[in-house]
Amino acid sequence: MNQLTPLDRDLWGGAPLTDAEFREIAAMLHQEARISLAPQKATLVRSRLSRRLREKELKNFGDYILLVRRDANERRQMIELLTTNHTHFFREQHHFNHLRNEMMPLWRGRSMREPVRIWSAASSSGEEVYTIAMTLLGQDLREAQWARGAGVQLFATDISEEMVSAVRKAEYPKGHLEQIPQPWRKLWAKETRDGFAIAPEARNLVTASQLNLFERWPWRHSFDAIFCRNVMIYFNEEAKAELEMRLVAQLVPGGALYIGHSERLVSKAKDFMIPCGHTMYRKPETMR
Ligand SMILES: C[S@@+](CC[C@H](N)C(=O)[O-])C[C@H]1O[C@@H](n2cnc3c(N)ncnc32)[C@H](O)[C@@H]1O
Repeated sequence: MNQLTPLDRDLWGGAPLTDAEFREIAAMLHQEARISLAPQKATLVRSRLSRRLREKELKNFGDYILLVRRDANERRQMIELLTTNHTHFFREQHHFNHLRNEMMPLWRGRSMREPVRIWSAASSSGEEVYTIAMTLLGQDLREAQWARGAGVQLFATDISEEMVSAVRKAEYPKGHLEQIPQPWRKLWAKETRDGFAIAPEARNLVTASQLNLFERWPWRHSFDAIFCRNVMIYFNEEAKAELEMRLVAQLVPGGALYIGHSERLVSKAKDFMIPCGHTMYRKPETMR
């Protein structure tokens, strides 16, 4: 049955979305990205997909669903439209303080032969991974030598191709500059005509690629730290538990896991990971 009242239709224009169509779209999104959509998200789904219907000159969501079912590119496009990419620089600053004060001293002796590797899983447009880069490069140019010497490698992945392109571009609007505190801003953000670009020293540490967290991971190495923040909220308990165990397995002994401010570990990882502050954990040194 259609949830929309005639008033909704007048306000919105465009095709209505029935409950059955919403469920179908939600099922496809879950199958592709393991994202769970609560029924309250129907209005959001309708508003985000309506433009796509118009672009494809489709009259109703039934036809859109048929198209998405048979066309892998359209399915990818649907994921682009239904994922939430909100992020900002230095989001949840206490994670970066921990990285800097507790983890970096442990990595002092590291070199190119034994690089420090950090993964921003579900990186969105790159603000997270560039905050990690700036944190490691530090607050003066001399200190920054360390990151080069330690062969720091930062990996940013996201299911969205558009977000991965944004990470590679590393350019942001002027208004976002004040999210970066001084002295990092002065050192690692370079003003451009339209906004600012991340300095090459930080950009060169980062490799960005498209990755669905529920597909096979390409990694041939473990990570010293993983940031998997503000994405698990979109998954159900079963998916969260599966992902958590894989993330822990991908950490070196002693490695750090940072999760989002409203997230909690739900799997048996919460029994053995060592909490080291709000939404931060270390893998026990004794655990391989
Ligand atoms: C809200 S942003 C979080 C960005 C950043 N981690 C932060 O905390 O600021 C969530 C990101 O997760 C990505 N995402 C959602 N489902 C995913 C999946 N199954 N695999 C990989 N990335 C996914 C979305 O594309 C989006 O960019």
